[in-house]
Amino acid sequence: PLPSSVTIVEVGPRDGLQNEAQKVPTEVKVELIERLAAAGIPAVESTSFVSPKWVPQLADAAEVLARVRRRPGTRYPVLTPNLKGFENALAAGAREVAIFTAASEAFNRRNLNCSVDESLAKFGPIMKAAKEEGVAVRGYVSCVVGCPYQGEVTPEAAAHVAGALHDMGCYQVSMGDSIGVGTPASVVAMFEACMKVVPVEHLAAHMHDTYGQALANILAALQLGVRVVDSSVAGLGGCPYAQGATGNVATEDVVYMLSGFGIQHGVDMSRLLDASAFICDALGRPNGSRAAEALLQK
Ligand code: HMG
Ligand code: MG
Repeated sequence: PLPSSVTIVEVGPRDGLQNEAQKVPTEVKVELIERLAAAGIPAVESTSFVSPKWVPQLADAAEVLARVRRRPGTRYPVLTPNLKGFENALAAGAREVAIFTAASEAFNRRNLNCSVDESLAKFGPIMKAAKEEGVAVRGYVSCVVGCPYQGEVTPEAAAHVAGALHDMGCYQVSMGDSIGVGTPASVVAMFEACMKVVPVEHLAAHMHDTYGQALANILAALQLGVRVVDSSVAGLGGCPYAQGATGNVATEDVVYMLSGFGIQHGVDMSRLLDASAFICDALGRPNGSRAAEALLQK
């Protein structure tokens, strides 16, 4: 049975833009976030409070967050790798953050410059401070079905890290197929292992579309009871520490599929297409969403 409603977490302004080579002006980022929120998306991941040396594109994180006119009811989570990032995010007005680590040691070293256990240890102080401030914390696990550096990742490895994030107090753990190598078979095996340690209502699917499997993987996850899906408008993005990885599944494609099932998602497709056309135009880029391409030509 499929869920009757699904929550979409839009990650385009963060995951989509973090790897963009050309400098995207702050006002374009702000307008993108505002248009996505106006389309009814309940959570718009807006930026990252990471080292500007590591991710120069998001060096304007504080300004982006300060400038966005927030809609009541919309959440604007931001990524924070360590306490410094958390403090900067809080000072800029963040009310929700996401911490991130990986099921693969090799990937984590390149992404966070430390081991998986070291990254989990750095999250302790964030969890404590977040609790005191009433800030919600989401967790991400990268490379849940495969790693660009170490290859295969077992379902048990992914589940182990998901359990650790859940146990430390993350209200939700998003399982990331960072390089889009998963198929419904491996994604189901991974989620089944995770569901033994984290209740399914606390799990989310974060599928990149490198091998064209993302939508199928999401449908397989929904059939297991997952009800939160991360996606990126126009399929923007990639990961700076996962060479060759393409963007997340396109938000428009997810919305189109959910609507086909009659699953509630709260997103207004025509306003979403406005946001999609806006960012493709600003980047001078063809639209990475097949549904958007088809609908915009009508
Ligand atoms: P490090 O070099 O080990 O950090 O990097 P450090 O603590 O030694 O500090 C080095 C310098 O960075 C110092 O500055 C710090 O002040 C500064 P300096 O003295 O050299 O001038 N610094 C910071 N500046 C701003 N904000 C901060 C911060 N922390 C330290 N928060 C670090 C460690 C975590 C900082 C670095 O590795 C980093 O920023 N990594 C971020 C990588 C990243 O953003 N990756 C992409 C997001 S994850 C993703 O895309 C996957 C996901 O989508 C799911 C999926 O698809 O799988 C979520
Ligand atoms: Mg990602």
